[in-house]
Amino acid sequence: MINQAELGGTFQLPGTSLGVNRMGYGAMQLAGPQVWGPPHDVAAAIAVLREAVAAGVNHIDTSDFYGPHVTNQIIKRALHPYPDDLVIVTKVGARRGEDKSWLHALSRQHLIDSVHDNLRNLGLDWLDVVNLRVGGITEPSEGSIEEPLTVLAELKRQGLIRHIGVSNVTPKQLAEAQRITEIVCVQNFYNVAQRNDDGFVDDLARHGIAYVPFFPLGGFTPLQSSVLDAAAASLGATPMQVALAWLLQRSPNITLIPGTSSIEHLRENLNAAKLQLPSLVIGNLDAIGGGRGPGMASTLHARPDQ
Ligand SMILES: NC(=O)c1ccc[n+]([C@@H]2O[C@H](COP(=O)([O-])OP(=O)(O)OC[C@H]3O[C@@H](n4cnc5c(N)ncnc54)[C@H](OP(=O)(O)O)[C@@H]3O)[C@@H](O)[C@H]2O)c1
Repeated sequence: MINQAELGGTFQLPGTSLGVNRMGYGAMQLAGPQVWGPPHDVAAAIAVLREAVAAGVNHIDTSDFYGPHVTNQIIKRALHPYPDDLVIVTKVGARRGEDKSWLHALSRQHLIDSVHDNLRNLGLDWLDVVNLRVGGITEPSEGSIEEPLTVLAELKRQGLIRHIGVSNVTPKQLAEAQRITEIVCVQNFYNVAQRNDDGFVDDLARHGIAYVPFFPLGGFTPLQSSVLDAAAASLGATPMQVALAWLLQRSPNITLIPGTSSIEHLRENLNAAKLQLPSLVIGNLDAIGGGRGPGMASTLHARPDQ
């Protein structure tokens, strides 16, 4: 039996009956290279999902534009019929070009089609949480999100969506969204080295809204830092575990969706929830992020293979 405390405890999405273990799983890495087409080894992808759920993960982040369609189809194959407590969070607002590019898909028809694609490929009658994804690849851009969000709110009234979140947004856009419908989570780019949202995280914590960092391990350019390495060595952990533990200790409203296609990395990541970082180590790690400390330029370096 899995002890929820071992996955960082639970976070209740506001105004919902949905409690998610804070250590979840992000499914984007399950598609093929460049998040396009099927993976080399579908059985391995299925095994990762099954192992995550068997270990107590009850929050999986996905989208129908991963693959496209592929990731959701693998989730359905691996886990359907879904455990009662599994919360699958998907996102709409983007689509893939034939050249594998990432394009906006924020028109009324695109959003309706995307919700139906998610329902069909996941094998669901309704979606627990749908994030409206706006902005650029990694950064939000100001501008009204009223039109697309109103469409999602309509689909929520129709019963196709239970709850709504937003992704890649600014605090101003969140405020606009909250005037249209209740927002249960924000999914933005944030990790130990990417700290632009520090104030936003704290504001959301005060309002009980989940903050779900995407690229918690650096995404397509996984984190590498001598400070992370030193912290990991001192704790008998790995640098990725330290990066995840730092997020869990950063704020109680942070829930994690690290992505991996590897069972070994999955196990390593889940075990990060058991790691307690001493305050001295947290102080050192804080110096990595966002140019806040003197260490930023000298401690972060790109992976040689990137
Ligand atoms: N809202 C948005 O705009 C948005 C954007 C991007 C992502 N997302 C969501 O956020 C989730 C997480 O993002 P992500 O998967 O792109 O990035 P991530 O979790 O920061 O990092 C994933 C990368 O780290 C590697 N990795 C994972 N665990 C590792 C470990 N223990 N040791 C070494 N390497 C490890 C993975 O490779 P291996 O497969 O080899 O482990 C992969 O290359 C996605 O699955 C997706 O659901 C949302």
